[in-house]
Amino acid sequence: MLFFLDTADIDEIKAGLDMGMVDGVTTNPSLIAKMGKPYLPTVQAIAELVPGPVSGEVLATDLEGMLDEGRRLAALADNVVVKIPLNVLGLRAVRILAEEDIHTNVTLCFSSAQALLAAKAGATYISPFVGRLDDVGQDGMQLIGEIVEIYRNFDFETQVLVASTRHPLHVVQSAQLGADVVTIPFNILEKLYRHPLTDIGLDRFLADWKKTGKSFDD
Ligand code: E4P
Repeated sequence: MLFFLDTADIDEIKAGLDMGMVDGVTTNPSLIAKMGKPYLPTVQAIAELVPGPVSGEVLATDLEGMLDEGRRLAALADNVVVKIPLNVLGLRAVRILAEEDIHTNVTLCFSSAQALLAAKAGATYISPFVGRLDDVGQDGMQLIGEIVEIYRNFDFETQVLVASTRHPLHVVQSAQLGADVVTIPFNILEKLYRHPLTDIGLDRFLADWKKTGKSFDD
């Protein structure tokens, strides 16, 4: 299972890469806006830093605009994946870009029907937003289970990229359900490492050895 970082923050990306757990990065206009830096150069800088796939989203909403921005994003680097919203024009753009061998990540997916359409259009990744579904009282993880089952039934090549994750349980459940990728904010990556019994156990081991008064080499 691949872990992507959901951020446009270069420092967080460097820290995640140092941890050895980051296989790629997803960005969106809100995340890039938060950094206060220009749009395309930010995607380019991330793509240069990260060896794996980096999703950059189109800002246009018309077909020609999405195609133009998609091609410009893809031209930034080989590992750039073009993020496109899940609507009629977006999926038309996905089909055209797929024919040009441009990888796409279909974003803002909230139903299995939408995910089925994205796969038929030839999306490289589908991004169901589990946290935003949970926020409105629907079960985000149930959607992941449905999409994984549907894609398996027909051997679709589109990869399930679980997005809008809010806590470690979303990551664990994504793995249990067989999702291909989970994209997580940096703070969730850090939380995945933590368990209070690990810290307590380590403190006790070290304290017990310290009582002997001996060192590592004694
Ligand atoms: C996915 O690619 C999106 O960038 C992201 O996961 C959205 O998360 P949010 O719902 O926390 O904004």
